[in-house]
Amino acid sequence: MGKESKSRGFLAWFLVLVILALVVGAVVYTVKKKMDNKNDSKPAPVPGPPGAIDKKYSDALKIAMQFFDVQKSGRLEDNKISWRGNSALTDGSEAKLDLSKGMYDAGDHMKFGFPMAFTATVLSWAILEYGDQMEAVNELEPARESLKWLTDFLVNAHPTENVLYIQVGDPEADHKCWERPEDMKEKRPLTQVNESVPGTEVAAETAAAMASASLVFKAADSTYSSTLLTHAKQLLSFADNNRGSYSENIPEVATYYNSTGYGDELLWAASWLYHATGDGSYLGYVTGENGKQFAQWGSPTWFSWDNKLAGTQVLLSRISLFCSKDASGNSGLENYRKSAEDVMCSLLPKSPSATSSSNVFFKAKSFGFIFLLCRRMLSDHLSHRLTELVRTLWISFVYQYSLYHAGGLIWVSEWNSLQHPVASAFLALLYSDYMLTQTAKLTCGDHSFKPSDLRKFAKSQADYVLGNNPLKMSFLVGYGDKYPQYVHHRGASIPVDATTDGFQWLTSPKPNPNVAVG
Ligand SMILES: *[C@@H]1O[C@H](CO)[C@@H](O)[C@H](O)[C@H]1NC(C)=O
Ligand SMILES: *[C@@H]1O[C@H](CO)[C@@H](O)[C@H](O)[C@H]1NC(C)=O
Ligand SMILES: *[C@@H]1O[C@H](CO)[C@@H](O)[C@H](O)[C@H]1NC(C)=O
Repeated sequence: MGKESKSRGFLAWFLVLVILALVVGAVVYTVKKKMDNKNDSKPAPVPGPPGAIDKKYSDALKIAMQFFDVQKSGRLEDNKISWRGNSALTDGSEAKLDLSKGMYDAGDHMKFGFPMAFTATVLSWAILEYGDQMEAVNELEPARESLKWLTDFLVNAHPTENVLYIQVGDPEADHKCWERPEDMKEKRPLTQVNESVPGTEVAAETAAAMASASLVFKAADSTYSSTLLTHAKQLLSFADNNRGSYSENIPEVATYYNSTGYGDELLWAASWLYHATGDGSYLGYVTGENGKQFAQWGSPTWFSWDNKLAGTQVLLSRISLFCSKDASGNSGLENYRKSAEDVMCSLLPKSPSATSSSNVFFKAKSFGFIFLLCRRMLSDHLSHRLTELVRTLWISFVYQYSLYHAGGLIWVSEWNSLQHPVASAFLALLYSDYMLTQTAKLTCGDHSFKPSDLRKFAKSQADYVLGNNPLKMSFLVGYGDKYPQYVHHRGASIPVDATTDGFQWLTSPKPNPNVAVG
């Protein structure tokens, strides 16, 4: 059940981001042309003002964005979802805090701080880079409102410097019932991390969320923006000075959102704080000892709620690719940029027709593991040159086996299988746009790629999700004529006026009475 519930939330949240990134459409080509001609001029902001809008993606964006409204907890403002109402109004009262806002996880009523903060960080990133495009289709305001619904919760969840509430609700009790959030009657216990029981990854992720959101609100609401930035700075110090994994220290949380390490969140948070403040000490933090210890330069990883390394690499590449003065001669930053390239190379198929079965994928995965082990041993013991050689071999290996499912979708995980393709597509779009500020060429082994190749990959993943797949079904609920009808979601599965026991609706053979749009 834990795994099942995990899957729903992220599927849709990521989808929102990719779809909105795709709204960029034709714009980037304009920017590219400009860059090609004016080699020496300053890099243009990427992407530029909205150009032609592809209706397919702007429709998808509108649908996907509503998922945030479906998931909202608290006293709803300007509610547009007919079957949703106020809920969880007393969340936080146990600690005399107002934790009524925030969003429910997946189809349940838990509020898990770790994935919620990550959602806020990635939503901020999407708004920062593609806000112009969202505005062009009237989705910027809804996006900002949804972000604020999350950050309002996170601000209240951080009442003093070294205390952060990371969970509302009891997952065991929560999973034993099936009811609308509006009718929820269970106790809502709170879980915190603090100096004696620290949770570095959740505190650092929350710092990343606050820092990135402070940039989103900088122009429109400078007071709120500086509040967010203060919380972000405090939270990174708290996370860094009290190191320990939240899922080791509070084992109950490991069943739901287990963390495999906190190094990536520390780097991610410091990278966002650098962007939010311009303070070079945050750059020193990621390029110095912490980088060496945690960054795993040269080993491509998948971007996810648990692992932010690939995201950090792309975010830091921004500094080099946009020619910031802090980038020149900074070998640490160069490592991040190269690693981001490795991630991109691992995503690109050798040719548009390259697809391989999931069988090949499994073989490739075990080969890859052995290769990675060898690489690691070699880099520990042999010279830099050899390490470089092995790195190149490794990249071309990953590249050769760019692992495609029969329908063209990346397939990494049996559970929540859309999260990796969609998260990868998001990074590929960002990187392709960042590349346009420079030479606009990506070299993978002896092949060279253009930003449009990355965009093509990203589109292929999004199009698969939107219905270009063997089932001809859109996995974005509410989009197109054919989409899932039996979504594992309490609010969607129970009619508003139901008077009978909730579980009968869970097992009902009929389609959901309400559409969990998004
Ligand atoms: C264009 O940029 C490249 C690489 O930065 C440089 O070597 C070349 O001289 C530039 N060409 C012009 C016409 O400025
Ligand atoms: C610190 O957090 C732990 C884990 O949530 C909790 O059990 C403990 O009571 C907290 N300490 C204080 C002083 O509140
Ligand atoms: C959580 O992750 C750690 C570190 O990767 C691992 O050792 C542990 O078995 C995982 N726990 C669960 C419940 O998945």
